[in-house]
Amino acid sequence: MNIDVLSIGAFPEATNAELAKRFAVTRYLQRPAPDALSADLKNRIRGIATEANRGADRALISALPKLEVIAVFGVGTDGIDLAAARERNIPVTNTPGVLTDEVADLAIGLMLASARQILFADRYVRDGSWASKGPIPLGRSVSGKTMGVLGLGGIGRAIADRGAAFRMRVIYSGPRRKPDAPYEYIADPVELARRSDYLFVACKGGPETQHLVSAAVIDALGPNGTLVNVARGSVVDERALIAALAEGRLGHAALDVFESAPNPSPELLKLPNVIVQPHHGSATVETRTAIGRLMIDNLSAHFAGRPLLTPVP
Ligand code: 8YV
Repeated sequence: MNIDVLSIGAFPEATNAELAKRFAVTRYLQRPAPDALSADLKNRIRGIATEANRGADRALISALPKLEVIAVFGVGTDGIDLAAARERNIPVTNTPGVLTDEVADLAIGLMLASARQILFADRYVRDGSWASKGPIPLGRSVSGKTMGVLGLGGIGRAIADRGAAFRMRVIYSGPRRKPDAPYEYIADPVELARRSDYLFVACKGGPETQHLVSAAVIDALGPNGTLVNVARGSVVDERALIAALAEGRLGHAALDVFESAPNPSPELLKLPNVIVQPHHGSATVETRTAIGRLMIDNLSAHFAGRPLLTPVP
């Protein structure tokens, strides 16, 4: 079969190879403007394989009259115009489950790196400060503290379970209580932040959660609090975050995502109480390969007329 698929983003080599084996692939690293595609190609494309954060907007979806399926490389769908897909009955798939542990691991790594000053301590040894200034200033404890999780979906739950294993008290917030979660539910994010020492953002992105971590949430977390974001930059009011960190109203932040990736605000990067990472929660060989496999299996299922493995509801 010679089915045309538009591939958008930087996939692992194994994913690119498998896609090319099964489909006629046209590759773009960034989402192409519809005008960048020839009329002939636009008429042939039947599937899109796209990174969660590169997505498929309404303009692209509308420009592809034969489009039948959009398969996301990742779990987030905030980069896809789901309404535009739905209007045309185009199913969208994502890759839940396969990246849960990986992202949760990075979230815990960020908490530890911040609390135990791991990046600062590395520089402290290398630049001779250890020898010239003596012991490093003291860090902060994690065990015995309260972990707040904003969004107890798959990733939030994996972070929470890790927190419990670190002997943290775990509380969470979200649109609804999760009856199977052995953690205290607090509906109000401001109250969650007030009671948290380490607040983890693990909810989905998009308009529903835009700036859910508001100035009020940040102030409630307070000067001894740490914000860890492995979800989406859009969830945090970054201007309010920068002001609070600069003025000492918030203690620390450890961020894998930003409102303006891949160029985070220069003001944010100047702050000493922030750790920044290049949105790599799922970025291991094992997990990115598994994401690619599931994305391709969804595409293949669609074109073989089989049920999709992990459709977005
Ligand atoms: C993706 C992500 O791997 O799954 C998501 O929603 O943001 C990441 O884990 C990323 O989009 C790949 O580039």
